Amino acid sequence: MSKDSSPKTTRTAVLVKPDGLQRGLIGEIISRFERKGLKLVGVKMVSMTDAQLTEWYHEHKDKPFFGDLKEFMASLPVVAMVWEGIDAVPVVRKLIGTTSGREAEAGSIRGDFGMSKQYNLIHASSSAEDAKREIEILFNVDELFSYRSALETVIYAEEELKLLEE
Ligand code: CMP
Repeated sequence: MSKDSSPKTTRTAVLVKPDGLQRGLIGEIISRFERKGLKLVGVKMVSMTDAQLTEWYHEHKDKPFFGDLKEFMASLPVVAMVWEGIDAVPVVRKLIGTTSGREAEAGSIRGDFGMSKQYNLIHASSSAEDAKREIEILFNVDELFSYRSALETVIYAEEELKLLEE
């Protein structure tokens, strides 16, 4: 749920990390989000710069693994996506699972495909504020798209559909 606990339509940033790319999990991950009922509103493959990674992971800047994390994330391109839906931020966090693949719930992406805390395949925004910041780091406004999903009337109930228009 959102911080104020009322459901609302939000966008969230997702990165498939270099290990997810190497593992051939791009299609599987996109498919899981699509099947859930989330809407893809932006996607691109990108080599993140050191400046972008420093900004992206600013909350970890004093952690001992900060340098290794940035080096790993710059070692190959990532697949960056923006997904939209009601409460998309917490919904996507649930789909990806907790940080360590060894501890993540079975059925989540990390829980089903990961064995590592460092190489945990995927990143997703942890809050609406983080989502806004992260989306701005990687996407220009003209790389994000607003459109009606043909499936939304079977994914959401009438009351919920009103939230998509707000
Ligand atoms: P994520 O939660 O997306 O964002 C921070 C990332 O730091 C995390 O995924 C892991 O990829 C990485 N990470 C977390 N803990 C460690 C650790 N102990 N050593 C190295 N990397 C870590």
